[in-house]
Formats: sequence, C-alpha cells, structure tokens
Amino acid sequence: MTTTNFPPLVAGNWKMNGTLASLAEVDALKEKLAGVNPACDVMICPPFTLLFPMGERLNDSSIAMGAQDCHWEEKGAHTGDIAAEMIAETGATAVIVGHSERRTDHHETDEIVQKKAAAAHRAGLIAIICIGETIDERKAGRTLDVLSTQIAGSLPEGCNAANTIIAYEPVWAIGTGLTPTPEEVAEAHAHIRKELAAKVSGEEEAARVRILYGGSVKPNNAKELMAVENVNGALVGGASLKADDFFGIISAYL
Ligand code: 13P
Repeated sequence: MTTTNFPPLVAGNWKMNGTLASLAEVDALKEKLAGVNPACDVMICPPFTLLFPMGERLNDSSIAMGAQDCHWEEKGAHTGDIAAEMIAETGATAVIVGHSERRTDHHETDEIVQKKAAAAHRAGLIAIICIGETIDERKAGRTLDVLSTQIAGSLPEGCNAANTIIAYEPVWAIGTGLTPTPEEVAEAHAHIRKELAAKVSGEEEAARVRILYGGSVKPNNAKELMAVENVNGALVGGASLKADDFFGIISAYL
C-alpha cells in the first residue's frame, strides 16, 4: 500500500568507507540506472570527503546525495565538525542524523539528534532521522516504547513529509545479516506512523512521511522487506558500497 505522495527512497549509507577510487561504483550505478525507471528515488550518502567530488559526478544524474552527520551550529569553534550549511553547499540535499553508530560511538542523545535535525532543516536539507531498538530492548518487549521515546525526543519542531524521513534501524540488525520478520517490521513501522501524527501536523501529514527500513538489507531480501506495509524504502549500509548489490536492492522497485 502506498501511504505517501513521495516516491520511496533507497539510500546508501557508505559510513566510513570510500575514497576517490570508489567513485567508479557511482559511475557503474549510473550506467545500471540508465534506461531503467525504478519507482523510487535513489540516494548515496558518502563520507564528508567525497561530497564535493561525488556531487560533481552526480550532476547529470537523478541520483541524489546526502551526508551522514552534521553539527547543530551554523559555524564556530567546533574542531572536526561540519555544519549543515557546509553540506548544503556540496549539492547534498539530505543528511542522516541520529544513526545508532553515532548514538553509540559519540554518545549522541535524542536531544542532540533533535538539534542536528533542526540544523538540517535550517540549511534546507532533508533530515533522515534514525531510530531503533537494541537487542536487549527487543527481548524485554520494549521496542515500541523505545521508538516512541526516540520519536518524541529526536524530532524537532517543524517536521513535515518534505523535510523529514524516518529510518527504522533495529540496532541488532545493522551489519549482522539478521533482519526482523516482515511482521515485526510492519508492527514497528505502523507504530512509527502513528507516533508521527503528534510530531507533524496530524495524521494526514504523518501518512506522507517516508519511513525507511534499515539493517542488513540485501538484494535477496529487499523485495520482501520493501513490500511490507508502511515501508517506504531502505537505508542500506554494506550492500550500498558495490553498484551491483545496490542496484539489486533498487531492483525491488523495478
Ligand atoms: P547494513 O546494511 O550494513 O546492515 O547497515 C545498515 C545501516 O546502518 C544503514 O544506515
């Protein structure tokens, strides 16, 4: 069932992978996409160092580009950080915030994620806000509560279907080859959709927000996962690094 006016999105999160040589994969993906017309948007989120060169490569293509994080301030004394405004200058149209690896590695709280998402909006970027439970939280039956808390805490004022995408990424499914069952994905996504109504202006707008599933999406499971109700695309890690695999996932929408 289509619950959004926006096309689904298949986004590749390259994480801390990719050097200039990796742009060959972008060229390969462009070739594979030429002449086919998937019923989804496609995006790649490379590390900061590749934003400008990748943006140039993608100039003549329909593939969008996003970054993986941003600071919440516009500028200032924050060594090593990147502002959302700097990201916007590269041609990127989106930024991932609140990925579980940042929540873990950099101790990012919902409050920080909320500020980063607000910064993305300030800079005119789509905020791809990641949420998801740990294995302990799932085993304790707390998955839906955790998602509610993260949605309440991580989404800033002013979210709507045009400027915000939610990525449901169960922490235990990331990089493990494990995935929730389609029923578990459906339950989580329906819950997210319901909770969104309080954060965007009501149910109608909430129905239009894209909710991506992420965590061990591969060419061989993409079709089944993308067919789940309320799943409006995928956030793909490892399998986005090679054009063949990423195209295999995009093919769920061919
Ligand atoms: P994998 O696809 O490698 O499991 O990573 C998912 C992810 O974290 C995307 O943001």
